Amino acid sequence: MVRTLAKHIGKYRTASILSVLSVLGEAGMDILIPFVMAKLIDQGISRGDLGAVYRYGLMMLLCAVMALVFGIAGGRFASRASSGFASNLRDAMYVSIQNYSFSNIDKYSTAGLITRLTTDVTNVQNAYQMMIRMMMRSPAMLILALCMTISISPRLSLIFLGAAAFLGCALTFILKHATSAFSRVFVKYDDLNSSVQENVTGIRVVKSFVREDYEIGRFNAAIEEIYRLFVRAESFIVCNFPVMMLTVYTCIIAISWNGAHEIVAGRLTTGELTSLFSYTMNILISLMFLSMAFVMISMSLASGRRIAEVLNEIPSVRSPKDPVMEVKDGSVDFCNVSFSYGKRRVPVDWDNPEAVKRYHEKQKLKEAVRQGKMTVQEAEKLDPDIRGTGWEKKYVLRDIDLHIRSGETIGILGGTGSSKTSLVSLIPRLYDTSEGEVKVGGRNVREYDLTVLRDAVGMVLQKNTLFSGTIYENLRWGNENATDEECRGACVLACADDFISSFPAGYNTRIEQGGTNVSGGQRQRLCIARALLKKPKILILDDSTSAVDTATDASIRKAFREKIPDTTKFIISQRISGVKDADRILVLDEGTISGFGTHEELLKTNEIYRSVAEAQAESGGDFDHAPGKEA
Ligand SMILES: Nc1ncnc2c1ncn2[C@@H]1O[C@H](COP(=O)(O)OP(=O)(O)OP(=O)(O)O)[C@@H](O)[C@H]1O
Ligand SMILES: [Mg+2]
Repeated sequence: MVRTLAKHIGKYRTASILSVLSVLGEAGMDILIPFVMAKLIDQGISRGDLGAVYRYGLMMLLCAVMALVFGIAGGRFASRASSGFASNLRDAMYVSIQNYSFSNIDKYSTAGLITRLTTDVTNVQNAYQMMIRMMMRSPAMLILALCMTISISPRLSLIFLGAAAFLGCALTFILKHATSAFSRVFVKYDDLNSSVQENVTGIRVVKSFVREDYEIGRFNAAIEEIYRLFVRAESFIVCNFPVMMLTVYTCIIAISWNGAHEIVAGRLTTGELTSLFSYTMNILISLMFLSMAFVMISMSLASGRRIAEVLNEIPSVRSPKDPVMEVKDGSVDFCNVSFSYGKRRVPVDWDNPEAVKRYHEKQKLKEAVRQGKMTVQEAEKLDPDIRGTGWEKKYVLRDIDLHIRSGETIGILGGTGSSKTSLVSLIPRLYDTSEGEVKVGGRNVREYDLTVLRDAVGMVLQKNTLFSGTIYENLRWGNENATDEECRGACVLACADDFISSFPAGYNTRIEQGGTNVSGGQRQRLCIARALLKKPKILILDDSTSAVDTATDASIRKAFREKIPDTTKFIISQRISGVKDADRILVLDEGTISGFGTHEELLKTNEIYRSVAEAQAESGGDFDHAPGKEA
């Protein structure tokens, strides 16, 4: 983890080193001052030598000015180094996240990623600053001050050793309890952020279900927990200061007492005793800062680990070494494709008493092993699967074999969860197949450069998003060099031109974040236009006209047929009317192909298709509401 993070100090390494050097310089000066002061008292004041007073006084002033200069320089270099380090980390994390494939994204929650980019980086930044200042200054001060006290009076320096041992024990106790509370706080932060993020994003749904009170309650519970943990952690931290002061005063009394005896015995001078007092403060303050730095650093360790996780995540979908840079045509082949999103926990079938009984027995055995009442081997004799993780690979697509010519229009129909979205996600390589291969333009999608492939495949996602900015700016996501004319042309094709022209600002109308100021159907049409501007060889519309009325839907399809005949089109729809004029229609049933052919063929041969068509002809409902079909 440290190595991963350290790589990103980058060009701020020099500032870090200069900061350390300045801090060491400052510490040196701080140590020198009491030493010169002792000389001033002993050789100047005690002997009444004014020349010595001036000489040593000037030296003290010089040391103080130097300490100030070093201090300011150290502070400036440290803040430059730590802020630069933080900005490098954020930059690297952002780049890393942008390169994630869909399956990498599936692993993290959005709120979790935001916490990592903000709070976690700030923690590491503070800890780094602390490290290059306090972690250098305090040990240096401690060692130098100890050396000085030993050189002045080895006997009296024993008092410091005793004090340091006491303080060490007390601080270890405080730290141990504080860090365990702090590390729990961070996990809770993630929960809090995800609750805020989910609610603010879904505020309309929260309001329409009148769930405000429930959500406020949930939020309060989360902050209550954080409050409790913080109070607990801080209640240990606040002990730091009194313990410290107790030690300081005890030391001062002990040194005064013993020092007076030493002076009377002629083994110590007044000046030396005065400097010993200064060193007492130096040593004990260094110890306290050191302990605070440890708190910060141990707190930031958890953050550092979370940042390193993001940075070390390897994108699961990447361009190959010698990529193919051109997509020949829009043909698509699925050759015996099976696909799984990864391992998932197999749920217990709570309706099956046998399964529930087995589950409880297994839990009891696991508990017995955990408590050490039984070994794993003994437990395995009773249940061979005791070490089973409960995770298994669930295939959402099985044995898909399809061959689609360039320029064909393919309708895809199937109930919710029948893997329509999963199937088309494999074409632009949003996910990689688990088995078999997907070919575009006659070549495996894994051979293409990712940008080339994704530029050739225009996909309107089921959960589409517009970004804040004007309509023009949003459309140019598809093609940043598109002229105004081309933008309008795409909107005419997507039947979006009419409503855009009716806005007072036309194409310069601002879209709010998430596209909340346009209707669902309008948003869908804008997203289609955006995908069209890419002039893709393959166009995928994933239920993209679900919020558009049937007549507009039909005219969009007609425009596609006439204006972009060479583009291969995949149209996922819940409505028979949305797919029936396609060249061929694919009927999916729980991840397998149930039928593939024209509307007329399927009416004759495919039971599912026929029952849905009949039901929709009567009721006009969608796939899942067809009476003959169980959703
Ligand atoms: N990111 C994901 N991680 C894990 N499983 C997923 C993911 N996305 C979808 N699934 C699962 O894959 C299966 C197929 O989902 P998919 O979204 O492809 O269905 P669909 O036919 O598009 O449904 P709908 O008509 O509702 O859009 C479902 O069982 C779903 O739970
Ligand atoms: Mg879907």
